[in-house]
Amino acid sequence: MKATLRLHKDNIIAPVDKRIFGSFIEHLGRAVYGGIYEPGHPTADEEGFRKDVIELVKELDVPIVRYPGGNFVSGYNWEDGIGPRENRPRRLELAWKTIETNEVGIDDFQSWAKKANSEVMMAVNLGTRGPDEARHLLEYCNFPGGTYYSDLRRKNGFEEPFNIKTWCLGNEMDGPWQICAKTADEYGRIACETAKLMKWVDPSVELVACGSSGLTMPTFGDWERTVLDHCYDYVDYISLHTYYDNVANDIGEFLAKSLDFETFIKSVAAICDSVKAKKHSNKTINLSFDEWNVWYHSKDADEKIEPWTVAPPQLEDVYNFEDALLVGCMLMTLLRNADRVKMACLAQLVNVIAPIMTENGGKAWAQTIFYPFMHASHYGRGVSLETRVDSDCYQTTSGREVPCLETAAVWNEEKGELTVFAVNKADQPLEMETALGGFGGLKLIEHITMQGYDLKAENTAAHPDNVVPHKDGATAVEGEKAVSALQPYSWNVIRFGK
Ligand code: AHR
Repeated sequence: MKATLRLHKDNIIAPVDKRIFGSFIEHLGRAVYGGIYEPGHPTADEEGFRKDVIELVKELDVPIVRYPGGNFVSGYNWEDGIGPRENRPRRLELAWKTIETNEVGIDDFQSWAKKANSEVMMAVNLGTRGPDEARHLLEYCNFPGGTYYSDLRRKNGFEEPFNIKTWCLGNEMDGPWQICAKTADEYGRIACETAKLMKWVDPSVELVACGSSGLTMPTFGDWERTVLDHCYDYVDYISLHTYYDNVANDIGEFLAKSLDFETFIKSVAAICDSVKAKKHSNKTINLSFDEWNVWYHSKDADEKIEPWTVAPPQLEDVYNFEDALLVGCMLMTLLRNADRVKMACLAQLVNVIAPIMTENGGKAWAQTIFYPFMHASHYGRGVSLETRVDSDCYQTTSGREVPCLETAAVWNEEKGELTVFAVNKADQPLEMETALGGFGGLKLIEHITMQGYDLKAENTAAHPDNVVPHKDGATAVEGEKAVSALQPYSWNVIRFGK
């Protein structure tokens, strides 16, 4: 199999916004309790946060973390999670049928985020609540002092405002599963009025309106158009969410799903621009892909979980090697769409469909998907370059022609480094010839791979290093050309420098 990739230093798509390497922590399962927070754990710090988990999050280098939901946020009273812990109420949590103890709330989470070198992307409840609570929460978080809610924050021990810049206006409000789901008109109006008040409280905030909760929603397209018709002037981004599965156990179809991921992005960008044109607006709405991942392994186990318990093991997908390949492809898709996707959150971060797993009272380890995310986050910062690809294809069971090579390239001017990310989706080796135009001669730094593993191989507490990257790729550089041997079903990170 063969593919050519033509790159040129001047063919820039856009600077990569580092927030595309964001993630997500919801009050769901063991994401918070037993995940980031476990007082009594041998690594817990003075606030009860697990230091072993913080170290893994830092390894991923996650610049922004969405919080506190997710479906959870649509029934959340943020006031329940502030002030002395002993006074915080235990609540029935309707989104995931659990009991929420509120031991962790907004104050605690922003403190955790600082320790993890991340910013908070806060979501407000537009399910059971509305503009009033949202403006109070923003006042609590960002107003310096001298008002009821800002002084409440100071009384709770936080003299300085949190200065949270990015806010989601609710979550998946189109989904019938959502607490107090809405029609597009209902949501568009409430999003518009909430956004107005929030920008009056703090004009520096950036706001994300809910798009469809998936490309396959029956209201997809109409939802975006109607919502943006209402709130175009007041919001900055629209959200996209998607999760893929390999229930059919068909690797060809599974790895083709990043093409759907790209279609989703292009479609939403086109809808945003059509509303822009209709409104004769100068403003461009960008995209926040604030939930994306593979999710299906845990669905049967979740059916058996007893309702109304505290922090049960929900959505604990154990990821395998093929999941890492698709996650790599989705990361490359985000990079190639850096002109429109300015934020993205791998959903989620710890235990719940996550790159990091923990045992209560025990170990923390990296799942297979941890590694492509870490590579993209470390080496995917700079400007995303156009990738002109000519690749042999394979045919899927449903007859789709899919290029064997999926790739993305990022040039980091400051470091003088070019990184080519590549997945070989074929069951045979692929020779990739890359034209390195305009770089004036580059040398190979390293060719990292994840290759040769059984597609179903996983990392577990007992075998955390079963599927890990190696620096064993084969790339030869000659002048302005590089030739790489990409192994069947492989993830490749090829780094060049001066
Ligand atoms: O990430 C898990 C759930 O998936 C989120 O709570 C929801 O927004 C989505 O449906």
